[in-house]
Amino acid sequence: MPSVDCAADARRLELDAEAMRRLGYAAIDMLVDHVAALGTGPLVATADGSDPGLGIADLPFPAAPQDPMAALALVRERVLADVIPVSDPRFFAYIPGPGNFVGAMAEVLSAGVNIFAGTAKHAQGPTEVELATIRWLAGLAGLPEQAGGLFVSGGSMANLTALAVARHHRLGEDMTGARIYCSSETHSSVDRALRVLGFQSDQLVRLAADASLRLDPAALRDRIAADRAAGLRPFLVVGNAGTTSTGTVDPLGALADIVAGEDLWLHVDAAYGGAALLVDEARALLAGIERAHSVTMDPHKWFFQPFDCGALLVRDMHWLYDAFHVLPAYLRDSAPRPGRINYRDHGIELTRGLRALKLWLSLQTFGTDAFRAAIRHGMNMAERAEAALRTRPHWRIVSPASLAMLAFRHEPPDADSADLDRRQLAIAETVLARDEAFLSTTEIAGRRTLRMCTINPRLDAEQIDGVVEALDAAARDLRA
Ligand SMILES: Cc1ncc(COP(=O)(O)O)c(C=O)c1O
Repeated sequence: MPSVDCAADARRLELDAEAMRRLGYAAIDMLVDHVAALGTGPLVATADGSDPGLGIADLPFPAAPQDPMAALALVRERVLADVIPVSDPRFFAYIPGPGNFVGAMAEVLSAGVNIFAGTAKHAQGPTEVELATIRWLAGLAGLPEQAGGLFVSGGSMANLTALAVARHHRLGEDMTGARIYCSSETHSSVDRALRVLGFQSDQLVRLAADASLRLDPAALRDRIAADRAAGLRPFLVVGNAGTTSTGTVDPLGALADIVAGEDLWLHVDAAYGGAALLVDEARALLAGIERAHSVTMDPHKWFFQPFDCGALLVRDMHWLYDAFHVLPAYLRDSAPRPGRINYRDHGIELTRGLRALKLWLSLQTFGTDAFRAAIRHGMNMAERAEAALRTRPHWRIVSPASLAMLAFRHEPPDADSADLDRRQLAIAETVLARDEAFLSTTEIAGRRTLRMCTINPRLDAEQIDGVVEALDAAARDLRA
């Protein structure tokens, strides 16, 4: 057997200082080139989509080291060649991820230093960054002084964490007969979270949204009364602050009144719309959020942070500790000093990076006014698209611009309803194939509907006008 010098081989996992700089600068160059090219180039994968795709599955992992620059080239040519450009200003589908370079650099630093943001004793600075950033978000939501929260991977994890805290506080270990209420427009991560937490599917009551796609307080009140009369245990209401399909906000004040009267828990899913709290005109729409017990916000959406970056806020930081802390023998020596906290005791994750640094550094760099302006700009862009579509024949606004989201259909008079549904998809496919815009569709009142989410700050009015023209041209071509 050949002798192996393990000590020497192990050192191969490091690069010397010069190689680190070369790799780092080359990676940054790649990123800057990527950002500079946004808004140009193909919107669909450039790689040939046929099997075997990009050949990644067939690439062996070498036993011996290879040149780091060659490995980086593999990433550029094989991996990044087939990424949906969610930061591209022509990307209006789902919820775009505009990201920002400063946030990306924070991510590089957090990963490079390998920050363990679970224990304050090992990371007091990082803990304070997270506390300060959460305090800023909680302040935006108007939550009280003792409010707190933590960063998680995204809206799904924030909703899961919120529901786990609510269950702990309101139900303990007995979930029998418990009922959770939300509208038909609520994000599917709530269903998944409840499944993970062990609730049965009939414990989530999805009430049909009203004509303006909002949870109807009267219907909620009636259903709670009926459930109580049937011996069930209403315990939680999920309100939306910006639905995924249309950016609609539930009547949060009315929901907060019901929740207070019935002694329930109010969770507000502001994963998408929470950022609009920075904009005065939108604040009024979200009034009532300050009365929530817990709030999901998702900085990797409209706060322009790179994936992944979600946040959960709670009215009282102690609720998180009560729900999650455990202290095994091997962690006792890193218990926090009096008055300090360990984030590992306040959520599901023990080992966790410093996701907060992205938002913190972006806010420190650009300032809150720039965020406010960018968010307002996104709303203006949806309003502009709506106004432009209204001037063109056969376009119907299904849901007016709300928090930078707009839903609409092309409905020429000669088409039947199945035809019309297919037409919306065909229009989206046509503008995508022409590299003009990437839209997704949703279903509203049972009908396939086009939608646009215009939060990307790289967008300008001219581009919006161009997209409306492109949509109209695609619709005309389909008719011809
Ligand atoms: C309203 C809402 N809640 C929750 C989520 C889930 O967030 P994430 O994808 O970050 O897990 C989304 C995602 O689009 C959303 O729009």
